[in-house]
Amino acid sequence: MDADTLLDWYDVHAREMPWRVPPGEARRPDPYHVWLSEVMLQQTTVAAVRDYFVKFTSRWPTVDDLAAAEDADVMAAWAGLGYYARARNLLKCAREVAARGGFPDTEADLLDLPGIGPYTAAAVAAIAFDRPAVVLDGNVERVMARRHAIEEPLPDSKETLRTLAARHTPQHRPGDYAQAVMDLGATICTPKSPACGICPWMEECTGRLAGIAAELPRKRPK
Ligand code: ADE
Repeated sequence: MDADTLLDWYDVHAREMPWRVPPGEARRPDPYHVWLSEVMLQQTTVAAVRDYFVKFTSRWPTVDDLAAAEDADVMAAWAGLGYYARARNLLKCAREVAARGGFPDTEADLLDLPGIGPYTAAAVAAIAFDRPAVVLDGNVERVMARRHAIEEPLPDSKETLRTLAARHTPQHRPGDYAQAVMDLGATICTPKSPACGICPWMEECTGRLAGIAAELPRKRPK
């Protein structure tokens, strides 16, 4: 379902990030890099993560290096990213991966690792291993809610949005597609004042056609 339009857009507009492989290059990104960046990105913005990512991968170039690190050194390097529980989980996961001889390459096996939840398992499976996993974060929820004019508020609409996200996920280039939707949500389909006029999905976006894109997703009052 119109994934190709988005992939064409991504081929031109993909944001450059130190953990990414630019679209069009045949090699896959390093699963260690994808996992580390995704864990860091749950914490803070892409801009803030860049420096931390470079610092971590310069000091610990492989997951085996990270697994062998002193706890205190990793905690100190993590300082500023917040949520130390996440740094502890990071180390736990690195040690488990090192003990297994590398990252598993399916969503289900990734989900078994300590500290890896459904989002991270799907993101690593898609981006590192090009598996058609359904990657659903706040960006993707917003894009889907607008694309299909889902007026039901979050969190009630979560399952609907997941179903739609699954329907859009292509078998062809699912890793690039996952990153393309996230880039779309971060740069065009932004929470406030979305740039619908330059959106690759403008023709098919029912939220835009109904004039309510910027209001979506609605949130149920607490
Ligand atoms: N936010 C979280 N993960 C991301 C990714 N892989 N690309 C862009 N933005 C993201």
